[in-house]
Amino acid sequence: MAEPLRIALAGLGTVGAGVIRLLEANAGLIAGRAGRAIAVTAVSARDRGKDRGVDLSGFAWEDDMTALAARDDVDVVVELVGGSDGPALTLARKTLAQGKAFVTANKAMVAHHGLELAALSEQHCAPIRYEAAVAGGIPAIKGIGEGAAANRIERIYGILNGTCNYILSEMESTGRDFAEVLGEAQALGYAEADPTFDIEGVDAAHKLAILAALAFGTKLDFAAVDTTGISRIRAADIAQARALGYVIRLIGLADCDSAPSPQLFQRVAPCLVPATHPLAGVCGPTNAVVAEGNFAGRLLFEGAGAGDGPTASAVVADLIDIARGNTPPAFSLPVAMLADSVRADPAGRRNRAYLRLMVADRPGVLAEITAAMRDAGVSIESLIQQGRQAESEEPVLVAMVTHEGPEGSVAKALELLDGSPSLSEAPLVMWLLG
Ligand code: NAP
Ligand code: HSE
Repeated sequence: MAEPLRIALAGLGTVGAGVIRLLEANAGLIAGRAGRAIAVTAVSARDRGKDRGVDLSGFAWEDDMTALAARDDVDVVVELVGGSDGPALTLARKTLAQGKAFVTANKAMVAHHGLELAALSEQHCAPIRYEAAVAGGIPAIKGIGEGAAANRIERIYGILNGTCNYILSEMESTGRDFAEVLGEAQALGYAEADPTFDIEGVDAAHKLAILAALAFGTKLDFAAVDTTGISRIRAADIAQARALGYVIRLIGLADCDSAPSPQLFQRVAPCLVPATHPLAGVCGPTNAVVAEGNFAGRLLFEGAGAGDGPTASAVVADLIDIARGNTPPAFSLPVAMLADSVRADPAGRRNRAYLRLMVADRPGVLAEITAAMRDAGVSIESLIQQGRQAESEEPVLVAMVTHEGPEGSVAKALELLDGSPSLSEAPLVMWLLG
């Protein structure tokens, strides 16, 4: 058998320790499939004394993770630290500039700097792989970039954040409070170091931007992802959605209209998903990615989106590919062939909307709301107003679902209602997944 592939690990937290456990547990099987052993030679983290439940005694230690790139006993550097910039980015640049392979689970860094790193990778003939950065253990990057490479992808969408999906499905099944369930997702190792990245949709937006570049052959454009998180979702929205035959999921969706030049639409937002749709049954930290290919049809990838084992599985799959010499371009096309795109205007997209308004319960309020809908050309399919306690001055909830129409009309109706003294807070809009 060939010489072992020697790897260095930067980061020994949830994912890093998971990679060490997986490489040990499945060493024989991995060596067989890779054609050679995969051996850790050096590691780095912040605290050398921390007990991580894995034996580090056989590995060299670097206090400065960026020093891993220059070590003579390292062929591949694996970055499992996180952060879009800072030491993770320095390590990526140094590793690739040395002509060494680089593996990362860091979607924030890939979303912000993926193009630059892909160009460095080509310049120095040093592969970069990032399967674990999108949808945890699901081989979505490989599936879309290689398995579906013969297709024109029409649309890509899915559940891309395990923490949000865990929170929404727990709220749905137990009626528990948002904050309590978030704490649990953090304790289970699903959440980012800064959990606002999860609940405000930023983590899902990082992943969507990566998937869009891969699927449509466009340059990464994270800044153009229209992003809304789940922090405004209430138990009452979940109950209303259920009454209408829907569940609420945080959905990332992208499509690209290529004529006459690429217009890229990218959105992350909580959506109402029909209870009969395959994504409605995706619960807990599970992720799902749907890619619609012009020859393959609808491809659905589903599996664990976060956690040590599944994420380690994706990292080690990249290492096996590197050991085998299977290293396609980072975004499936050479960087010079990735197209520029403009941000698509959502106003003309036809959709159905769920709108939730908190209103004062007094005469004329519903008339004001429905007049705004009429004036904006929005047709209401159903409307529910919750009752209030006798004598209570609290605002009441009005929820409605519109007929299909241009998104721009809903935006116009909200403009007409903006600043109305009848509303106690800004309306919440969720699109229905079609
Ligand atoms: P984590 O548990 O917080 O671990 C981060 C590790 O990085 C820790 O070992 C920490 O050291 C080390 N570290 C932080 N700053 C460092 C520095 N300046 N120099 C050297 N080491 C440093 O994070 P994680 O959940 O494993 O996530 C790692 C990466 O994987 C992130 O990019 C994340 O987005 C991505 N990811 C995570 C999951 C998941 O389910 N957790 C899934 C997919 C992708 P100490 O241990 O000494 O503090
Ligand atoms: N915080 C991320 C999530 C980890 O909850 O999906 C996996 O990328």
